[in-house]
Amino acid sequence: MNAPQSPVLKIKNLTKRFGDRGSAGLKDISFSLFRGQTLAVVGASGSGKTTLARLVMRLSDPGEGSIHLNGQDITALRGEALRRIRGRFQMVFQDPLAAFNPHANVRRILEAPLRLHGLAGSAAYGAVIGAALERVGLSAGLADRLPLELSGGQRQRVAIARALMTKPDLIVLDEPVSALDVSVRAQILNLLLDLQEEAGNAYLFISHDLAVVRAFADEMIVLEDGRIAESGSTDTVLGDPKAEATRVLIDAVPRLLR
Ligand SMILES: Nc1ncnc2c1ncn2[C@@H]1O[C@H](COP(=O)(O)OP(=O)(O)OP(=O)(O)O)[C@@H](O)[C@H]1O
Ligand SMILES: [Mg+2]
Repeated sequence: MNAPQSPVLKIKNLTKRFGDRGSAGLKDISFSLFRGQTLAVVGASGSGKTTLARLVMRLSDPGEGSIHLNGQDITALRGEALRRIRGRFQMVFQDPLAAFNPHANVRRILEAPLRLHGLAGSAAYGAVIGAALERVGLSAGLADRLPLELSGGQRQRVAIARALMTKPDLIVLDEPVSALDVSVRAQILNLLLDLQEEAGNAYLFISHDLAVVRAFADEMIVLEDGRIAESGSTDTVLGDPKAEATRVLIDAVPRLLR
């Protein structure tokens, strides 16, 4: 692990409250994520995982605390300034169908980030998109398909290809394989690992599946009611859990999978 550089993502004392009572949300979250690393965020349903992902992606505004991306303070970026750095961090959702325009074929889906960020002349789109499909193990012939005409695994590959178009430093993955069959799950996780090895992206990996987390992530944090209950290397946290919240998650894993 190569931790001496500055972190790709640095979160400090992040807090988010919903509504007046301020019970839900996030409280005092701090962590750093380095190039080539995967940090898993686990926790029971409602513990704040997606809330954290949305804050990191600047899709919602934090109450307090700061978010630095490659040393730049992006906590309060808005409008054009935010749009300009959007390509540096991308997100892959659990359900790509909900994240795709259902009427756009794969070619248009993959062109969108190129247009938005002015990344290639339109004459080069065909070649760039062909290469992007190949990188995620799809044939160029799929470019004409609509999202509904793809399998779940193919769809998630397109979502990953789209996220990679801007060569992001950070990819936030919110339950990226939970909706997939077990066999396809392993293929997609292996693809993500291969891509990370090639490009050195940092992954913030949200999951409730500890078997997947163990295989996929270097470090992990356990959220409980919006707070970090425990954090550390995946081996340490899962091998010798200290927090009750971690033990509850481990006990929920079917015995055969442990
Ligand atoms: N926009 C919102 N307004 C009010 N409350 C919200 C909002 N978004 C999330 N919450 C609340 O914040 C808490 C954390 O929700 P979040 O979606 O982050 O959980 P999660 O860990 O992603 O859960 P799951 O595993 O079910 O996806 C929950 O109590 C939720 O009801
Ligand atoms: Mg969620």
